[in-house]
Amino acid sequence: MNTSKLALITGCLGGIGRALVQAFADAGYTVIGMDLAEAATGPGPLPQHYISADLGKLCTDAAYRDTTLQHVQALVQGQLKVLINNAAWQVVKPIEQLSAADWMQTQNVNVMAPFLLTQALLAQLEAAKGSVINIASIHGQLTKPEFVAYATSKTALLGMTRAMAVELGARVRVNAVCPAAIATPMLVAGFDGKPEAYQQLADMHPVGRIGQPQEVARTCILLADDQLGFMTGASIALDGGIGARLHDPV
Ligand SMILES: NC(=O)c1ccc[n+]([C@@H]2O[C@H](COP(=O)([O-])OP(=O)(O)OC[C@H]3O[C@@H](n4cnc5c(N)ncnc54)[C@H](O)[C@@H]3O)[C@@H](O)[C@H]2O)c1
Repeated sequence: MNTSKLALITGCLGGIGRALVQAFADAGYTVIGMDLAEAATGPGPLPQHYISADLGKLCTDAAYRDTTLQHVQALVQGQLKVLINNAAWQVVKPIEQLSAADWMQTQNVNVMAPFLLTQALLAQLEAAKGSVINIASIHGQLTKPEFVAYATSKTALLGMTRAMAVELGARVRVNAVCPAAIATPMLVAGFDGKPEAYQQLADMHPVGRIGQPQEVARTCILLADDQLGFMTGASIALDGGIGARLHDPV
């Protein structure tokens, strides 16, 4: 495998994951994807190499962790240019109904797994003068009811991004992208038959629309570029301006 420009993307079969796979392949990267499914299948772009792994189990089962990380390291070999921690688990429930299992799964998949993958691949990232990109969320800063577990995990991911950037310095850059609503197939399907609600969501963003998965991917391509070597510890808002908007009646 050509490891000179290797990208590892978790959650590669999801809405944003597929856009990431396409963009990095188009930019000349060899892409290794990870996701829950046993095999990578369509529709949409698929990575050149695929690892089926449960990132929740990676955090809770030491034997599974060792085997999985060894498998990842064997595939990556010497150098990794970019690790994109994109997979996430989202539980939407009122506080009273959030179970301990909901809480742990969310923090494990969204925070601990990115930590463990980064830790396991540090030498390969450093060898490539590479970087880590954590896909966080606007929920790391602004949130709404029933998102306590998810919002807490994304806030922690932003804290981890800064802390790792400070510790790793010039060795490995670590940045985060914070999207607001992105028009993944799942999000669009959620508004099926409710065009007014979809339009209302779009109108809440100063740019008058919600984001596209390709815009998240484009941001990651820029962040991975050596020419942005001064950028580390950053949390990039990709939110159509909604995070700057004051909800006063006008
Ligand atoms: N879509 C949005 O509006 C939006 C907005 C802000 C942030 N994000 C973030 O973008 C990233 C991608 O989200 P998406 O919208 O593409 O979601 P998605 O649900 O389409 O994709 C998430 C992927 O993560 C994988 N995954 C979940 N649990 C896993 C586990 N235990 N082990 C391995 N893989 C697992 C899923 O199988 C799925 O393919 C996430 O980090 C999400 O929090 C999305």
